[in-house]
Parts: sequence; structure tokens; C-alpha cells
Amino acid sequence: MYLSPTIANCLKQSAQLAEISDSPRLDIEILLTHILQKNRTYLFTWPEQELNVEQAKVFNEFFARRLTGEPVAHIIGQREFWSLPLMVNNSTLIPRPDTELLVEAALGLFGEDEGNQSRRLLDLGTGSGAIVLALAHEKKSWQCVGVDKELAAVELAEKNRMQLNVHNVNIQQSDWFSALSSEASFDVIVSNPPYIDLNDEHLKEGDVRFEPLSALIADNNGLADLEFIIAHAPQYLTANGWLLVEHSYDQGSAVRDLFATNNFDHVNTLRDFGGNERVTLGRKIS
Ligand SMILES: C[S@@+](CC[C@H](N)C(=O)[O-])C[C@H]1O[C@@H](n2cnc3c(N)ncnc32)[C@H](O)[C@@H]1O
Repeated sequence: MYLSPTIANCLKQSAQLAEISDSPRLDIEILLTHILQKNRTYLFTWPEQELNVEQAKVFNEFFARRLTGEPVAHIIGQREFWSLPLMVNNSTLIPRPDTELLVEAALGLFGEDEGNQSRRLLDLGTGSGAIVLALAHEKKSWQCVGVDKELAAVELAEKNRMQLNVHNVNIQQSDWFSALSSEASFDVIVSNPPYIDLNDEHLKEGDVRFEPLSALIADNNGLADLEFIIAHAPQYLTANGWLLVEHSYDQGSAVRDLFATNNFDHVNTLRDFGGNERVTLGRKIS
């Protein structure tokens, strides 16, 4: 039966996505808001509106791609993080809502007045620039650096920086600290490094199948990059400087031990929206 391409009929197609998506209706809403350049309220207000021929063609193409499991963020080339629209592609991770916890924790390190003073911040493995751009956007007085090993990710983060008009961030290519001057020092270092073990079954599910292993996996049960970062960060932190890292739900205890054996105090782990241990922070002992 022919169904006219109204907003309501497009939304009905969400039933077909149930097997590949946890949020089929939301997926279609995001595709439609992107195609129509309207917000979600518009979709609920005008369900009978028909897509024009070009819009319907794009919708059919996007829908077919989503049926193969391709992430919505890759299809529309965009994902919102900390209310900032970020361009995304297959060079790095699609920013996750849980990572906003790391941003919140970094913003909470200093009191209102103290936090508005000039600070230096480093984001290791910046990817799309999500963390560093959110922080720099919030704290215009901070001078921020974001580094990534992958050139394509560096280019993506720089494009996002320019698009969002953020001027207090410098994006560089670097294998962790290697391209930084040995004199460089930061008040805060943040990182959401790769932390998944190569044999983890989650790598076969959902969006991660479309993300590069360079953004996901680390040796030593997923801990190798966290070990490297925690061991070397003190060299690049000012006296009483803070390190904050994201990690897997089951790595909290190992990560706290790493902080404790690498000259940090005030070590604490924060839980994400799902109640899982997700971000650990500590202050360098001077
Ligand atoms: C989990 S992703 C995080 C991306 C982004 N910070 C976010 O939270 O959405 C990890 C990032 O670390 C980068 N990376 C992996 N190994 C690296 C290394 N040795 N030096 C610098 N960056 C690295 C990857 O390219 C990827 O962009």
C-alpha cells in the first residue's frame, strides 16, 4: 500500500528499526529534524505535513543506512555534546552523554571566582574535540590544548573549533604527551582514552561497530593507555594540578590504585547516569 511521505508515516517506520536500535523513534525524529531543519516540537505539531520529493528521497536513503546499523550521528554527520552541535565522522568516537560527567567534574574543581581565573588545560585523545571544546566554551579565561594521535581526528576537532568559534583552544597532533614541550605544564589534564579490551563482546554491538579501534581498544585488559597517562601526567601538571580520566564501569578500583601509586591524593571516582563508576580524578601531591 502506498503511504504518502508525511512526518507521521515516516515516524511509523520506526517499528522496522526495533531490532537494531534501542531508540527507534528518537532515531527517526533526529533524521527528520536534520532533513527538515526543524526542531522536534515541529514534528509533533505538524504530523500531516508531507516531505517534498527531495526530502523524501534523502529520508529513504538515511533510513536504509540506519537499517544496516550505521549510527545516526554518522548518517547526519553530527552529534550534540554539552548542547554544542559537533561534526562527527568515522575517524574517532561519537561523543557519549556519559562523558559530560568528565566535563562537569572539571568545571567543579574550582570555586566560582577561582574557576574564572586563567587556567591551563590539556585534553588527551581529543577526538571530535568534545571535551576540550565544551570546557573552553564554558571557561573563556582558560587556555586549552587538545591532542590526538590520528590526523583525521585532529582535523575534525579543528573544524569543530572553528565552526563553534572557540578561540581559547589549540588542537595538535600528538602521541599522548610526545609533541608537547617538556616545559609544558597544566592545571588540569583530562582524558577519555581507549579503554576496551580487544576481546570485549561489546565491540560487536551497536554504534561501536562503526567506530575505529584506534578510539576504542587498549592492551592489558583495556588499561594500557590509562596506565601510561596516569604515570606520565604528573610531569605535566602544576603543583596541586588535577588529572581526570574516564574509564570502563569495571576499571574504577584499578584506576584508583594507579592514581595512588603515581603521586596523587584526593582520589575519587564518580558514577555516571546509569550508576556505574565512570570518571576518576586525583590531585598531584606537590
Ligand atoms: C575514546 S576516544 C575519545 C574521544 C573524545 N575525547 C570523546 O570523549 O568523545 C579516544 C581518542 O584517543 C585517541 N588516541 C588513541 N591513542 C592515542 C595516543 N597514543 N595519543 C593520542 N591520542 C590517542 C583516539 O584517536 C581517539 O580520538
